[in-house]
Amino acid sequence: MDYAASREEALARIAQAQDLDALEKLRVEFLGKQGSISGLLKTLGGMSPEERQSTGPQIHALREAVSDALAARKEALEGAALDAQLARETIDLSLPAPDMPRGTIHPVSQVMDELAEIFADLGFAVATGPEIEDDWHNFTALNIPESHPARAMHDTFYFPDKDAEGRAMLLRTHTSPVQIRAMLQQGAPIRIIAPGRVYRSDSDATHTPMFHQVEGLVIDKGITLGHLKWTLETFLKAFFEREDIVLRLRPSYFPFTEPSVEVDVGFAIVNGKRVLGGSGDAPGHGWMELLGSGMVNRKVIEAGGLDPDQWQGFAFGVGVDRLAMLKYGMDDLRAFFDGDVRWLQHYGFSPLDVPTLSAGVGVRP
Ligand code: PHE
Repeated sequence: MDYAASREEALARIAQAQDLDALEKLRVEFLGKQGSISGLLKTLGGMSPEERQSTGPQIHALREAVSDALAARKEALEGAALDAQLARETIDLSLPAPDMPRGTIHPVSQVMDELAEIFADLGFAVATGPEIEDDWHNFTALNIPESHPARAMHDTFYFPDKDAEGRAMLLRTHTSPVQIRAMLQQGAPIRIIAPGRVYRSDSDATHTPMFHQVEGLVIDKGITLGHLKWTLETFLKAFFEREDIVLRLRPSYFPFTEPSVEVDVGFAIVNGKRVLGGSGDAPGHGWMELLGSGMVNRKVIEAGGLDPDQWQGFAFGVGVDRLAMLKYGMDDLRAFFDGDVRWLQHYGFSPLDVPTLSAGVGVRP
């Protein structure tokens, strides 16, 4: 057999293979299990030692040459394929970036995140409660009995049916029922904030039937009004990112706190706009009512299953939407809940701007 001729023919055909498929077919034809060169190798076994000694090296050399040629051709074809692809596919860096989905964080969510960050630093956990409440948690346990005028004042949305225990069901009118739930669930001591939706039948530029509050509750031993004042001051300075926030505490009344304290914050008028900071008593300044608070009423601590001789605490409740309006300058609350993407583009926050105390809790997008 003329191995030299077989080799020339094989190498010529390999050199002419136009693509990787054709080349693979040749590899199978020569070196596959049933391939012609594999067949030649198998004949070695049946040869006499002398014959094998002269023929063996030739067959092996043929196999080597074909295998090398296949590899070389493969590399060449792959290189050519890559070159062609590179020539075909170009990137024009001057083109505008593709349209990305651009959702924004709603200011209410942003403010809730800011509150969670600020209060986490003070050792408060975030608690939640149901928006569909019963009148025991929403009123009775908070020292607002059936006949109490505060029930009527709350413009409550009631459900037509009572729950299994015969309690009237309603949409919670404030986040204060979470105070009761936290005490019953976790006992004392407690440090929580409870942000969430609340509902009252009320609607104008500054009132919507659904709005947001954040409740604060501390239960521990030896808690005083001083702790309340320090906590609110620290919180509001961090939230409004101003050291000159000045608070005024006024005696007030809530059934669930005793004593109760209404908290005003001082503002100045700058270019016709109210800007928080400084004493409200200074010329050109004023006070604006911000939140309700007080020492938790003994009856409420009892309703929460705790001994009021052992445990004391303070609580506060503040409108989240109102905090957002004051900090970020919106003046119509109704726009918060219209779902208008233009409003959200303008007032929303980047999902990447997570509020942190170190970077500032309210970076503009
Ligand atoms: N729940 C009260 C409200 O909705 C606010 C408040 C909470 C007052 C806690 C005192 C203590 O107006």
